[in-house]
Amino acid sequence: MKKPDGANPAKLLWFVVIVFIAYVIFKSPGWFMNKPIPGSLIMMYMFFAVVAALLVMTSTDESTQGLFAPIKALVEDPSKKIIRNAVFVIAPIVGALITYNQIKPGFDAPVELRATHPAPPTIMKAYDKTFNLATLENPFRKLQTENPEKFKEAVKEGGAVYFKNCFFCHGDKLDGKGHFAQGFNPLPLPFQGKDTIAQLQESFVFWRISTGGPGLPKEATPWLSAMPVWHTFLSEDEVWKAILFIYDYTDNAPRSWVSANSKKDG
Ligand code: HEC
Repeated sequence: MKKPDGANPAKLLWFVVIVFIAYVIFKSPGWFMNKPIPGSLIMMYMFFAVVAALLVMTSTDESTQGLFAPIKALVEDPSKKIIRNAVFVIAPIVGALITYNQIKPGFDAPVELRATHPAPPTIMKAYDKTFNLATLENPFRKLQTENPEKFKEAVKEGGAVYFKNCFFCHGDKLDGKGHFAQGFNPLPLPFQGKDTIAQLQESFVFWRISTGGPGLPKEATPWLSAMPVWHTFLSEDEVWKAILFIYDYTDNAPRSWVSANSKKDG
């Protein structure tokens, strides 16, 4: 005997299979090529996949009935009491498990993007003072031209500060590969190369060192930076000298207003 059309679960099964295949397709770059699509995008894609499947499968009255009849039957049909009770117990448990997995601590990359070099504030507070970052300069920088001997001395002192405090994370070659570096996410930044301090003004670097990870603005915080708040450990002069050292050692020159204005490529 042919079952009444309404109780045929094939349509509903198809719907589940199609949504599942869509999920596998969106996830596969992450599973097989190590290029995961961000979770927020997967959510968006899945939303469209579900809506598209629903649109197609409910295009006629007949197909709509076919899709929803098994659900209706499950809720209403007296002969399905056992399955109904099982579903009503299992569904909330699955929901609870999904919620638990969302809130338990995880080490996956967060879905938001992180700004490595966020826009600095115009003023910052440290050492019980307020600094205006637009005009702040390294007080020892002028020695480079005015008194090279003293400058060398200051760089050396900065090196001592660095190797007492910073190399654990930023590396003894200033390449960001310190002993503890791998334990942190985001990774401590390298100072070698032209991508980090070479692009920055010393006032920016002073801000980053003195206020550390907790001083970062919101767009840089989805991953918690382990960079310590150095103004609570080091004196102002020590920070400025450490800055002299990291530029000197890596053969980088800080950006300055003068070079930025006078040179097109500065
Ligand atoms: C516990 C590990 C740790 C130590 C120790 C540490 N840093 Fe960092 N530092 C980080 C991490 C992680 C980042 C990247 C995230 C960020 O920008 O806050 C960073 C970022 C920086 C930046 C920003 C670079 C840029 O291009 O934006 C500077 C400058 C810096 N550190 C200097 C120092 C100096 C100088 C010291 C020593 C006085 C030091 N750090 C000690 C972990 C550390």
